[in-house]
Amino acid sequence: MADVLTSEDIRSMGESSGEIRVSPGAIITDVARETAEQLGVRIVPADAAATGETAARPAGEERPVQDKRQPRQVLDLNDPDAGIETDAAPPSRAGDVANVVPSSPFSPGEMRLLRAEFPSLSASCHLANCSQGAQSRTVRRAVEQYMTNWLDSGMDWDYWVEEVGKAKNEFAGLINAEPEEVAVVSSVSEAISSVASALDYEGDKNRILLTEAEFPTVGHVWLAHEKYGAEVDFVPLTDGEIPLQEYERMMDERTALASITHVYYQTGYQQDLNAVADVIHRQGGLVLVDAYQSAGTCEIDVKELDIDLLTTGNLKYLLGVPGIAFIYVRSDLVSDLHPAETGWFAQHNPFAFQVKDLDYAHTARRLEGGTPPVTAAFAAQAGMQLLRDVGLNRIEKHIDYLSGYCMQSALDRGLSVASPLDVAKKGATTAIEVPGDSHEVEMELKRRGVVTSARGNVIRIAPHYFNTDEDIDLALDELTRVLRR
Ligand SMILES: Cc1ncc(COP(=O)(O)O)c(C=O)c1O
Repeated sequence: MADVLTSEDIRSMGESSGEIRVSPGAIITDVARETAEQLGVRIVPADAAATGETAARPAGEERPVQDKRQPRQVLDLNDPDAGIETDAAPPSRAGDVANVVPSSPFSPGEMRLLRAEFPSLSASCHLANCSQGAQSRTVRRAVEQYMTNWLDSGMDWDYWVEEVGKAKNEFAGLINAEPEEVAVVSSVSEAISSVASALDYEGDKNRILLTEAEFPTVGHVWLAHEKYGAEVDFVPLTDGEIPLQEYERMMDERTALASITHVYYQTGYQQDLNAVADVIHRQGGLVLVDAYQSAGTCEIDVKELDIDLLTTGNLKYLLGVPGIAFIYVRSDLVSDLHPAETGWFAQHNPFAFQVKDLDYAHTARRLEGGTPPVTAAFAAQAGMQLLRDVGLNRIEKHIDYLSGYCMQSALDRGLSVASPLDVAKKGATTAIEVPGDSHEVEMELKRRGVVTSARGNVIRIAPHYFNTDEDIDLALDELTRVLRR
């Protein structure tokens, strides 16, 4: 019996018996239905005769999760007697946050089932998805599948490489790319290094534009290429945002490429990729997006956004493990890239074993290197499938709902929000400023059962689709208590 039936369940449970029994009211994802149809697996509602019910998605049957915030007083952090819970009138700050989404697309019943996939949620409140996603049963099973196969077979490279290919296909589907436009590597740093090593810095077009919102590794990779002639400039952050005019001011025709983040890892500020890509393209530059803080939280369509290259790893919102990342390269760009950072899996035929030939693959695979990250690929494939089953469109709406809820609830408690107070300009992370050592605050919250992530002077509260407004309330209440100590 399954409560949420995914395509993975159909494959693992139904394929041998040809039938799978589900409890009344179980959620059967669209992809699971398609998979069942393809494999000829019958989905049989258990107790259907007794209850007269058929197994169907309950979405819409139950009321969606509503904004359940209780009126709160603004908390004076210097007042040790200040209460946290109160029946006082709503504070005058209500409405400070723009573009709030009033409710989640997930009903409470559906949310219970979605959460059941993540065992740790019964013990602690996981809000550190900007750093590491929570462990799902599906991903755990996938890693175990690899370990079991290895144990049983001794060595099964054909199968393992095939599974890496499936992970690549899954990633391509996630961003509306073709599998031939995707390379698999082990980290975002490696993906960007590979692109950087493929550019020519000897001519006039040697300028690389970054922003002050990049994750440090991006700065490090490009600065390391100054020794080859690259000229690196940073578009400044202004009041926590990067106005389009700043791109217009700094972009010129000597700029070969803009290496920019989609979402700022520190505050969750989200850039308008379409608008930025337009400015860069007008002057003949390429756009390379670091989507590590957005992939898995929202729909990303590289074709619609008109992006040339995009990279992300899998351990955060893609629900995987460390050790794997992907890079998308627009198909008509592939043949221009001759990376110096390379290896045998980047070759047209990796198994030709010709040590004296450098013969790049004709697809994005030319950005790969050595032996692929097999174990992490099993996890990556499972994590991305899980997201596809739930649906990125609904995940995005849920995260936007929690984003607005979190910011307004933090303001209501008198906390200082470092993120832009506009849901439309923000990813999943809400950053709360804390005095002193933020890492200490993170540790204290963890001791209290709330897993968050500290960076600089902020605590990042970064929910995913399995988090609720109750998780946010718990985190903010505990944070308020910790700061008052
Ligand atoms: C936006 C962003 N880019 C890049 C990285 C680092 O990626 P990697 O360790 O895979 O090189 C991180 C890590 O947190 C990140 O948040």
